[in-house]
Amino acid sequence: MQHAAHATVSDSGMAEPSRQELYHRLSRVLPDVEIAAHMPMIEEINRLKAERGAVILAHNYQTPEIFHGVADITGDSLALARRAGEMDAGIIVVCGVHFMAETAKILNPDRTVLIPSLEAGCSLAESITAADVRELRRRYPGVPVVTYVNTSAEVKAESDVCCTSANAIEVVESLGVDRVLLLPDRFLAAWVDANTDVEVIPWERGACEVHEQFTAELVAEYRATWPGVVVLAHPECRPEVLEAADMAGSTSAMLRFVEQRKARRVALITECSMADNIAAAVEDVEIVRPCTICPHMKKITLEGIRRSLVEGVFEVGVVPEVAARARRAVERMLEVGRGVRG
Ligand code: 13P
Ligand code: SF4
Repeated sequence: MQHAAHATVSDSGMAEPSRQELYHRLSRVLPDVEIAAHMPMIEEINRLKAERGAVILAHNYQTPEIFHGVADITGDSLALARRAGEMDAGIIVVCGVHFMAETAKILNPDRTVLIPSLEAGCSLAESITAADVRELRRRYPGVPVVTYVNTSAEVKAESDVCCTSANAIEVVESLGVDRVLLLPDRFLAAWVDANTDVEVIPWERGACEVHEQFTAELVAEYRATWPGVVVLAHPECRPEVLEAADMAGSTSAMLRFVEQRKARRVALITECSMADNIAAAVEDVEIVRPCTICPHMKKITLEGIRRSLVEGVFEVGVVPEVAARARRAVERMLEVGRGVRG
């Protein structure tokens, strides 16, 4: 693969593949005809990136042809937020969902941030508004508000500090208080509550439409079908699923676990493309996966990325006053989580 002039970096730890290696990786998860169909577009996007001085950030849930083919930086929400704050490219294309693009814009007010589809939302981000947060503050006076990055810029602006699934426990503990509000994912809040001495008050209406589908019965079925399987689950899963799993962690923590070959057979209880991206990059590990997709992440396609670069769409904007307040919460998270890997 001919990549753009700027360096391709993976926070997930995966090295940039050559054209031959890219074929090899993709052939583990895609049929040859599909790879051949994607290749011209992959090459065109990489050429356009170089011409426009653009950089592509892609979340771990992007499809393999995007993740391995055109992304410059890949990772979980924490890694993408961190790297977004270090960009020197004039144009940042975010292949992920809208809140991720907003976070990139909040951290780069003077750069152009593009998202290839305006339909790439998130059920968690949609579950809560800034007015809801203000109401919670009235109900729990003096209790700090920690918001998951899976929220709008307006919600971030109302909060004291943000967190991701990779650093939620550290962020909550860093506040040095007995009680916090952790919004909006009630399952992440329950997981943090179970793993700290801090009382965590949840927002009862928030859940990820993908991760709430997984059940403890599914984990039991995997264990019965694949003896010795090590089960990794995302903290957005229900408490009974996390209880049944061997490890709970962010998408990048799962990837590191597999890359370090801590087990020969692993089950990934998370979004489907995550397993494909790992299977494409890491040999000799058997990966068991439920193919549950995030419909929002799948709104991003190679065709949409090409259009983004050609037409400069869709530009993400955040009202400067909102962005300034949201930036404080995001930067405070990045400060707390310096030692935590995304
Ligand atoms: P990570 O921060 O673990 O990548 O999770 C983001 C997300 O949206 C999971 O559904
Ligand atoms: Fe949002 Fe869930 Fe999709 Fe992640 S997987 S972007 S939390 S809907």
